[in-house]
Amino acid sequence: MKKIKLGAYPYIYPMPTVIVGTLIHGKPNFITISYVGVVQHKPPMVSVTLVKGHYSNTGIKESKTFSINIPNTKLLKETDFTGMHSGDKIDKASLFSVFYGNLKTAPMIAETPLNLECKLVEVINLKNDSEIFIGEIVETYSSKKFIREGYPYMKKLDPILFSINSNSYYNIGRRIGWAWKTGLKINPAKCKK
Ligand SMILES: Cc1cc2nc3c(=O)[nH]c(=O)nc-3n(C[C@H](O)[C@H](O)[C@H](O)COP(=O)(O)O)c2cc1C
Repeated sequence: MKKIKLGAYPYIYPMPTVIVGTLIHGKPNFITISYVGVVQHKPPMVSVTLVKGHYSNTGIKESKTFSINIPNTKLLKETDFTGMHSGDKIDKASLFSVFYGNLKTAPMIAETPLNLECKLVEVINLKNDSEIFIGEIVETYSSKKFIREGYPYMKKLDPILFSINSNSYYNIGRRIGWAWKTGLKINPAKCKK
């Protein structure tokens, strides 16, 4: 198949859509982001990339904590909204029921199915326009109805996926396989060196 060149873009399809919670001058603020990633499994660490001018950055630096809230498709309107307005101008936290966990300074959203409470470990100041905040997850919160066999159940979580450049949201489809099992259908002998 002939490939065409699209230019240099961070097309990691699909992207997650999460809401990061911060405490700024004692008040909660929430920002929608897609540039979020898993850094490592143990101790569990995540990264959050924020453009330098955002209001949220101040809060993470101030309290050295933040939260990652995983919204479901029911919260699509609110999720888009928290990505459209700055907390500098309006009180985005008034859209949600806010709660706090062990750290006391990482505001979390009761309405989202999953919440990760994080303490700041490192800030990477990129030369151009972004900062990467690396956080260690100290606790995870959910409700019984989203859990199956002790784990968050993807179908129940109903997370929002983001399609960058087409500026649109998707939901997840059905389960199509099992990790570390579906690949067993290919015999490694086929890939002899
Ligand atoms: C779907 C979506 C994804 C976004 N992803 C990011 C992101 O990864 N990093 C970022 O800095 N801003 C991102 N934004 C923009 C911020 O959410 C937006 O500028 C917000 O108003 C900043 O809020 P604050 O000033 O209260 O911190 C995204 C917005 C949307 C709608």
